[in-house]
Amino acid sequence: MSAVSLSTSRVGVIFGTDTGNTEDVAEKIMTELENYDVVAELINVTDISPEAIAEFDLAIMGIPTWDFGGIQADWEDFEDALVLADLNGKMVALFGLGDQFGYGDFFVDAMGWLQEKLEPTGASLIGYWPTDGYEFEASRALNEDKTLFCGLAIDEDQQFELTDKRVSDWIRQIVNEYESAAAA
Ligand SMILES: Cc1cc2nc3c(=O)[nH]c(=O)nc-3n(C[C@H](O)[C@H](O)[C@H](O)COP(=O)(O)O)c2cc1C
Repeated sequence: MSAVSLSTSRVGVIFGTDTGNTEDVAEKIMTELENYDVVAELINVTDISPEAIAEFDLAIMGIPTWDFGGIQADWEDFEDALVLADLNGKMVALFGLGDQFGYGDFFVDAMGWLQEKLEPTGASLIGYWPTDGYEFEASRALNEDKTLFCGLAIDEDQQFELTDKRVSDWIRQIVNEYESAAAA
């Protein structure tokens, strides 16, 4: 049994949104975390500093993609601060919202951007997610062999009926990965 529990760790759920979908998914994530006795903080990226992110043991970050692979505006405004954050020893998990049929050449691209911006911070990424069950042409958020996204991909436009199960499966995975990595 793991000695490290996510329920005694500091967890933040940080989102940016234009039309509210990413906030809705962030709230579902909060509810799922409660099932594991995790009381997280829910924060809009407009209201956070890199120092505050560094105080979390696990930061779960959510970003939608806009305008053909574009970055949600509030996350884009946060870029210069984010790349300078010191997240060594911290864990980060990403979720990205997009529309795989409407924007199949740019599906959840902004989540890939966020992963790239986190590289200099030293954060360890958990929560990679299989591409099975999605139909799209290209995405910036894929690993090298294109079998995994760098985080949870959610499509409220085309597959909203799959969102609840995807979130609950992913949170189970996050809890397991966090506790085994923290115990190692
Ligand atoms: C004008 C427009 C451009 C979009 N561009 C993309 C895109 O390039 N890639 C993608 O995956 N989704 C794209 N989407 C879909 C949004 O990411 C999706 O609707 C998302 O749920 C919006 O999240 P939000 O409500 O948190 O802003 C676009 C949607 C619109 C209306």
